[in-house]
Amino acid sequence: MPLSSPWDGFLAKIAACASVADLDAIEHELFGRKAGALTTALKQLGGLAEAERKTRGQECNAARVVLTEAVALKREALKCKGMDSLAKDDTLDVTLDLPEKERGHAHLIHEYIRKAEEVFGRMGFDVAEGPELETEKFQFDLLNFPKHHAARDSQDIFYIHGTKDPEDRELLRGHTSTVQIRYMRQAGRKPPFRMICSGKVFRKDADATHSPMFHQIEGLMISKDVTLANMKAVMETAVKNLVDPNVDFRWRTGYFPFVEPGLEMDLRWRGDESKSREGRWLEVVGCGMVHPNVLKNVGIDPKKFQGFAFGFGVERMLMIRHQIPDIRLFFNGDLRFLKQF
Ligand code: DAH
Repeated sequence: MPLSSPWDGFLAKIAACASVADLDAIEHELFGRKAGALTTALKQLGGLAEAERKTRGQECNAARVVLTEAVALKREALKCKGMDSLAKDDTLDVTLDLPEKERGHAHLIHEYIRKAEEVFGRMGFDVAEGPELETEKFQFDLLNFPKHHAARDSQDIFYIHGTKDPEDRELLRGHTSTVQIRYMRQAGRKPPFRMICSGKVFRKDADATHSPMFHQIEGLMISKDVTLANMKAVMETAVKNLVDPNVDFRWRTGYFPFVEPGLEMDLRWRGDESKSREGRWLEVVGCGMVHPNVLKNVGIDPKKFQGFAFGFGVERMLMIRHQIPDIRLFFNGDLRFLKQF
């Protein structure tokens, strides 16, 4: 049924709505509880003469039904239109070739330490840990350093000022040999054992082969019949697996208060000595048979048990493995360097 004026005008307005907001406004204009056109018309019916009230009443009712329906249909249509344009304009092409996301990875030192744990793990070594903040007792005393040994000099070691007990000053550990002591003193721990421990160490040193912070892998093997020959075999296996199966190495005697005898192993840079570094030797590990005093200090009877200890410089092994000329490259965060590994 065609609507009478003014309701047909509203039909046209509804049809012309371009958005849900427009439609809401018209709905309010028509049906608003206080001033809606239809609401007002219905209210006014009561004041009309009977004949007119009847016709007007019918018109109003018809208008209410038709306009309500028109609003609902228009609302639905506008929603669909929204979905249509979303589908048209906002498409995601899953076949598009996007630029590849750059992936990070662990720093090569940490990757390498994990590899070392695997290599030593195959030789029966457990992994231990120890603190970076240490005391003079663990750094020196229990490792058989004499009271006035030059290594205690604060020129090499980062001492922590304000330590309460002057007899046991705090410091940043200068080597991981501290963990030997902590490991052997652990309650309930009895030899035989094989352990390695890796971590940061700190010294006041800085040039192409020294850094104020670097990493060591410490190791310890104690049992009734471990010999120097066992030590050399373990060291050589480690170097061949972790540096290069064909690496050139040499043994030298070395002095460390906590071993007797003490040895050092050097690895050779590739090349033929024509340049400053090539063909020369780099010291990568100190080791030796654990000194009887050290065993006594941790409550192990040196007449019953013996063994060896070693400490690798992690960066130096990597330097020979990859022929990296300067230890500072590990730590200055240059992505051109780091991305190669
Ligand atoms: N702690 C020594 C250093 O930092 C390295 C070392 C030498 C460790 C001999 C050992 C060892 O366990 O037996 O220079």
